Amino acid sequence: MNNVTDAKHLQQAQELDLSNFWMPFTANKQFKAAPRLFKKAKGMYYTTVDDRQVIDAVAGLWCVNAGHCREEIAHAIANQASEMDYAPTFQMGHPLAFEAASRVAEVMPAGMDRIFFANSGSEAVDSALKIALAYHRARGEGQRTRLIGRERGYHGVGFGGISVGGIVANRKAFSANLIPGVDHMPATLSIEHAAFSRGQPAWGAHLADELERILNLHDPSTVAAVIVEPVAGSAGVLIPPQGYLQRLREICTKHGILLIFDEVITGFGRLGKATASEYFGVTPDLLTMAKAINNAAIPMGAVAAKREIYDTIVNNGPANGIELFHGYTYSAHPVAAAACLAAQDIYEREALFERAAQMAPKFEAAIHDLKGEPYVKDIRNLGLVGGVELESREGQPGTRAYDAFLHCFKNGVMVRFTGDILAFSPPLILDESHIDQIFSTVRAALRAVH
Ligand SMILES: Cc1ncc(COP(=O)(O)O)c(C=O)c1O
Repeated sequence: MNNVTDAKHLQQAQELDLSNFWMPFTANKQFKAAPRLFKKAKGMYYTTVDDRQVIDAVAGLWCVNAGHCREEIAHAIANQASEMDYAPTFQMGHPLAFEAASRVAEVMPAGMDRIFFANSGSEAVDSALKIALAYHRARGEGQRTRLIGRERGYHGVGFGGISVGGIVANRKAFSANLIPGVDHMPATLSIEHAAFSRGQPAWGAHLADELERILNLHDPSTVAAVIVEPVAGSAGVLIPPQGYLQRLREICTKHGILLIFDEVITGFGRLGKATASEYFGVTPDLLTMAKAINNAAIPMGAVAAKREIYDTIVNNGPANGIELFHGYTYSAHPVAAAACLAAQDIYEREALFERAAQMAPKFEAAIHDLKGEPYVKDIRNLGLVGGVELESREGQPGTRAYDAFLHCFKNGVMVRFTGDILAFSPPLILDESHIDQIFSTVRAALRAVH
């Protein structure tokens, strides 16, 4: 039975017309000339169409925290799709939407228990930015329209997200149309001062004071919100310096500015706690999440808001009118909500956040053991996130990491690369043998690639 299915998959893959699918964030021409295709996934592993097992060192795209194809989630999705495929949440409701919100609220920092649902990280970010603006307006401070992000920040691909984001490649083609009134703090990474830091770098807390400088320039009373990723993933794994996030929190509080943590990657266990906010002991006002919220089995994103933000917007709205003109057809989609509840059950029952915390020291030791391998110029990590930055080839940035990525893939390990940085964020279910497999393969790749 399996052999027949496998043979069918391979034949289908060989006959596949690759021309129609315009692939996102992909070198389309390069990929289509030599495609890398998966057909199955289970636990820590993918299976390629030619039947090779590939260990997933990035949890898909930083999202499959409980490992692939969890049966409880698959059943929840199938059951819900046949019970009630869709119900609107505009002026109507269904119980799963409320249950999912309660369940997510349980693991959010205290007081951040009002949950707005979206379908992706990008939508969660744009929702959070709009909630911040609506909040200030509702409390009579409608002049607070400015938003502050950070260089190298990644907040998805909506116009709001790329405007507060700080990744040049994601902005430059759209630069004339970015939203106005946005400024950026400097990125916190300094290889010069903090190379090969284990966990949070000791250097760099003073970079938070740049926020004060920017606020003075614009007048703090014009600023609505500051948004940062507590740990940045997509820009190449940037770990906040010790004390940095605490300082941002103090400055925002002092000036009545909302602090938004974009936890699309860090939410649901990546650092060994439910959220990075909990891990760092710093509570934002709004928190965005997506990805692992339902183990990425179906699209879902969300914003957690402090109760006071919800109350301000709702209590200042018209008596029987809509208070926030924002929402998505699929906000709290029943199937996504069912998957969310099933995923949260798994996280709790298997204590996966604690497991991530237990595995983090082993992961740290293994990744830092790559120091001294060819072209490795920095290694950084926190929880189950890690990055290995390579020296770039003269005039060909990104090609060395791409070659290393390809070498790993051919040898059974899927890593992620951004520029010349290799990134790791494995499912939280991994054990020591997986860590060994991942990093011994990466070591061999670094030795093979010139
Ligand atoms: C911090 C952060 N915010 C937002 C996003 C965007 O999420 P999505 O791709 O689901 O729109 C990502 C995606 O990686 C992310 O890492």
